[in-house]
Amino acid sequence: MEDKIRISGPVLALDNYPVSQLIHEEFAIFVVATAGQGDEPDNMKRFWKFLLRKNLPPNSLSKLKYGVLGFGDSSFSKFNFAAKKLHKRLAQLGATPLVDIASFTLSGVVMRHDIPDIGPMSEQYPHLLFNNFKTDLGLRTMSILKYLFPVPKADSKRVITFANHDDYICFRQHTYKKAGKDIELSEIGPRFQMKLYSIKLGTLESLDAADTEWALRPYMNTASKRRFLSLEDGWQEDDQ
Ligand SMILES: Cc1cc2nc3c(=O)[nH]c(=O)nc-3n(C[C@H](O)[C@H](O)[C@H](O)COP(=O)(O)O)c2cc1C
Repeated sequence: MEDKIRISGPVLALDNYPVSQLIHEEFAIFVVATAGQGDEPDNMKRFWKFLLRKNLPPNSLSKLKYGVLGFGDSSFSKFNFAAKKLHKRLAQLGATPLVDIASFTLSGVVMRHDIPDIGPMSEQYPHLLFNNFKTDLGLRTMSILKYLFPVPKADSKRVITFANHDDYICFRQHTYKKAGKDIELSEIGPRFQMKLYSIKLGTLESLDAADTEWALRPYMNTASKRRFLSLEDGWQEDDQ
């Protein structure tokens, strides 16, 4: 696949890695389990102790892009803590997480089988249509949603629409076929609305709000009916 990232490099236990090299690295994936009560595994202890040194400057890892894969067991109260702590410390030292996580609240979910005259589900990669994502936050949201999907073939007949109206993002999915000059759309569901709740750097459950780049706060709702994803309500095109 063209959109695969090809990576080659050594695979090492963290304590076998010469940690002082980390300031020169541009790319690293950390695979970290949690042991004890939220503790780092034995073969990462030296690495972790070094990373916690107070005298490391806050931009030491500014070259580094990183991913953290955490392995844990959610029945422990300190679920995945070693990975979460590592993610937080790497970000503190100026490294950039490879993925951002956006959380949305869903409403008005209509399942496929509840939509009348539903068309058959398509296995093709979908084309994506975005409407009314205009502010910086809107563009960020659009790019996070966009990169969830692989690049479709040009002739794919499946289309997903994300249409923003007053910060509610309406999700619809269709297939289409050409019927002479016309295009016949067939909805394939599901349908729902999404409202952006937060954009976090890195992991889903960060240790505290310091990792949250943007979050919807209740007081924002009353603040002069501000719109966050676009200054427009998104219905303009329909009026023309
Ligand atoms: C003694 C012990 C303590 C553990 N402590 C934690 C913990 O505090 N937090 C956590 O998320 N997972 C904890 N785990 C789960 C391990 O991270 C998990 O077993 C490991 O990721 C391997 O997954 P597996 O057991 O499915 O092979 C612990 C496991 C053991 C054996």
